[in-house]
Amino acid sequence: MNDQTHYNLEICLPAGRYPVHLGPGLLGDAETWAGTLPPGKILIVSDSNVAPLYLDTVKQALGDRPAEILVLPAGETHKTVASWNQVMDKLVEIGALRDATLVALGGGVIGDLAGFAAATYMRGIRFVQAPTTLLAQVDASVGGKTAVNHPAGKNLVGAFHQPAAVIIDSETLNTLPLREYRAGLAEVVKYGVIRDPGFFEWLEQRVDALNEREVHVVLETIARCVRNKADVVAEDEKEHGVRALLNFGHTFAHALETLSGYNRYLHGEAVAIGMVVATTLSEQRGLCALGCATRIAGLLDALGLSLDWPAEISAEAAWEAMAMDKKALDSGLRLILAKGIGDAFVDQSSSQHDIVRAIETHTAATA
Ligand SMILES: NC(=O)c1ccc[n+]([C@@H]2O[C@H](COP(=O)([O-])OP(=O)(O)OC[C@H]3O[C@@H](n4cnc5c(N)ncnc54)[C@H](O)[C@@H]3O)[C@@H](O)[C@H]2O)c1
Repeated sequence: MNDQTHYNLEICLPAGRYPVHLGPGLLGDAETWAGTLPPGKILIVSDSNVAPLYLDTVKQALGDRPAEILVLPAGETHKTVASWNQVMDKLVEIGALRDATLVALGGGVIGDLAGFAAATYMRGIRFVQAPTTLLAQVDASVGGKTAVNHPAGKNLVGAFHQPAAVIIDSETLNTLPLREYRAGLAEVVKYGVIRDPGFFEWLEQRVDALNEREVHVVLETIARCVRNKADVVAEDEKEHGVRALLNFGHTFAHALETLSGYNRYLHGEAVAIGMVVATTLSEQRGLCALGCATRIAGLLDALGLSLDWPAEISAEAAWEAMAMDKKALDSGLRLILAKGIGDAFVDQSSSQHDIVRAIETHTAATA
């Protein structure tokens, strides 16, 4: 058994590299913070759920380094230009200069928002990601995509801006609601399916430990995800190629989220269903060995994710939501499909008939 507790990982990009520190209790570790924060003003941005739990710990670890605080209301509905503006106002108010560091303490919403604020304030200041959800630890905090939502679309206003460091305190998962934890596990499984068959098998063998949030297994899970994400981002920082594979299951998931009014599913929950449908489609088109979709569904189900396609959303309606972008359709709907577990690829040759049939097959299987 692996009883490693601390991982020092690294993201390497053409323009430079940054560390990802991973371990239990790191938010309260003065040494980790001291090595991460050069002189200059510090602004910690957090949300109304996370701040009461972890802000004091971080402030204590900073010792006599003064830090300004901005706490925003929690939730995706606050990942807006208005919240971004609040961060700008705060940075101006505290007299932050180009040497300031912004710390994002929270889930993917705070990370994306604070990251975008850091990307834009004075044409870019340093920022440090301190992710507190499993989804943010294994995905959102690494790789430099930052954004806020616009009424016309999710993540419509954004920039690529890499953090200076990522500090992942695995103990924060102890307070994460079960539903949020499970939604994060869907994104964990995704890495196995798209590029890491050994990891997929490793997860299958550790379902109980994952469900119990067993410390060493959770730590190794996060480390393996970060390494996978690091490899993908190193190869394709701005999503011209392989980074698109991270969207496996997401086109189906977006259709589900849109048609259910964005209040029924957590993103990871919709992605779990989307991954199984994408694999069913791959199997039906003869691109993938039979049995893969069942195996993926088995793991997701064991991790507590519901895979039911909602009865009120027809396959045709989902197709239409997916095909909204006419330009995408002219050259074929762009989907990530699987050749097998650990081998995803970009495909544009699925017809409307193929897609509708895959959703209907999945609906019948989960009815
Ligand atoms: N930048 C990227 O590459 C990338 C990748 C994937 C997702 N995202 C973005 O991430 C966002 C979703 O992130 P999320 O799932 O972390 O959502 P989130 O930030 O809304 O966090 C989920 C909920 O958990 C609470 N919470 C966070 N940490 C907690 C903790 N330790 N204990 C108790 N409660 C806690 C939050 O307050 C919130 O209510 C979306 O906006 C998505 O677009 C970005």
